[in-house]
Amino acid sequence: MKASRRGFLSTCAAGAAVPYFMWAGRTLADETKAKNDRIALGLIGSGDIANANIGAAKDWIDIVAIADVDADRASGFNAKHAGGRAAVFDDYRRVLERKDVDVVHVATPDHWHTKTVVEAMLAGKDVYCEKPLTLTIDEGKLIRKVQKQTGRVVQVGTQQRSTFDLFVKAMALVAEGRLGRIKHVQAAIGAAPASPSIPVVAVPKSLDWDRWQGPVPVADYRFIQLPATKDKDGKEKLPRPTTNCHYEFRWWYEYSGGKLTDWGAHHVDIATWALLLNGQTAGPTAIGGTAKHPVSFKDGMPVERDRYNTATEFLYTVDFPGGTQMVIRHDTDNGVLIEGEKGRIFVSRGKLAGEPVEALKDDPLPDDAIAKVYKNLPMQDNERKGHWANFLWCAKNGKEPISDVHSHMKMLNICHLAGISARLGRSLKWDDAVEQIVGDEQANAMLARPYRKGYEIET
Ligand SMILES: NC(=O)c1ccc[n+]([C@@H]2O[C@H](COP(=O)([O-])OP(=O)(O)OC[C@H]3O[C@@H](n4cnc5c(N)ncnc54)[C@H](O)[C@@H]3O)[C@@H](O)[C@H]2O)c1
Repeated sequence: MKASRRGFLSTCAAGAAVPYFMWAGRTLADETKAKNDRIALGLIGSGDIANANIGAAKDWIDIVAIADVDADRASGFNAKHAGGRAAVFDDYRRVLERKDVDVVHVATPDHWHTKTVVEAMLAGKDVYCEKPLTLTIDEGKLIRKVQKQTGRVVQVGTQQRSTFDLFVKAMALVAEGRLGRIKHVQAAIGAAPASPSIPVVAVPKSLDWDRWQGPVPVADYRFIQLPATKDKDGKEKLPRPTTNCHYEFRWWYEYSGGKLTDWGAHHVDIATWALLLNGQTAGPTAIGGTAKHPVSFKDGMPVERDRYNTATEFLYTVDFPGGTQMVIRHDTDNGVLIEGEKGRIFVSRGKLAGEPVEALKDDPLPDDAIAKVYKNLPMQDNERKGHWANFLWCAKNGKEPISDVHSHMKMLNICHLAGISARLGRSLKWDDAVEQIVGDEQANAMLARPYRKGYEIET
């Protein structure tokens, strides 16, 4: 970011134990009231989550440029969030080359994340990229390399890491040893939908379908609006359109990893964070389990190409050294269960429960327990808004944010490996030190993916 803006939040003591939602008595909003101190943001991908994210960051940022391959989405976003004043492009590279863009937000589908994040870093921009950061394990190696080389600040959109009253508090219990040595963690992330065969239809005028696909092999555009269904109160509701494009791309391995990288990126993240805070940094060593897919697979690739293809139901087991096990499943209450030798806790977006939580009444956590888990970074607001505050503060101050690319990939590798195991229908052994699958050439080939000509990633 611009040196002239580095003075921003200089009053904040990053190393001090700070109370929730307050940075040495001043907030990020106090610091960004003046026009000159506001942060200029360039947006790449103006769909569903970009709306929520910009809502969370709006007190501190001005959107100066928007890129989307769907012109209607970009112009609608501009009108709604930037008063029509942002420059609008179909090519994200126009956003990256602008000198007036301080930070970039990548909110495209997953298959575009690595290329845009790498190019943003090389263009000298700090980036907030939505989860999951990559589509493959090797893309994680590349992003980590370029992040080290450029020193840019990259925050991943796993906002549960900035949810202080639930997930961060749960992590503080783990870090303070209230559960003892962890033996078992479970990430319950819900089932994923199947679809009927989806017809090939004409591409909408506003959408550049070829560029939407970008690095991925070209496929037909598919779309159908299924009829309304009744909810539990008998009210009719139109489902989201069934498609291989907007929002629903997450149910296609071509563009995403299904539930594993959609919700797994949140709850496997918390389960992995717990192990790391418990001193269990090695592994995993093996991944297996069962998964039900809505299509058949050959050599790890879906055979039928006309419908959703990611796993709908699954039970994956992940082994770590010392007998610790992680389970990732669809079929029980959404949330993370952490079991240690001294007790167990359950944490979700609505609840933190278990005996170690009740025991806090008589034996509270030390004052600095939450701050320590939060890497002693300032804490302002909660959840998505807090995560943006963390990113913007770290970008201003050149610090590593709470959802850094290194710890994110430690967990995302697990999701990707579970996906490879599911697609091949066999268990895998993993050498975490060299990030290679052991003794399985076909599975190892799936650590990377080919890029369509013209969409290679150059570094
Ligand atoms: N953190 C969270 O809680 C959370 C929640 C939902 C989604 N997400 C993540 O956000 C990302 C986007 O999901 P969504 O539901 O908003 O999808 P979406 O389909 O609604 O939006 C994606 C937008 O990106 C645009 N796009 C595609 N390729 C582009 C390119 N090359 N350049 C510019 N724009 C391009 C699309 O046209 C679309 O408007 C996904 O990676 C998803 O996993 C995160």
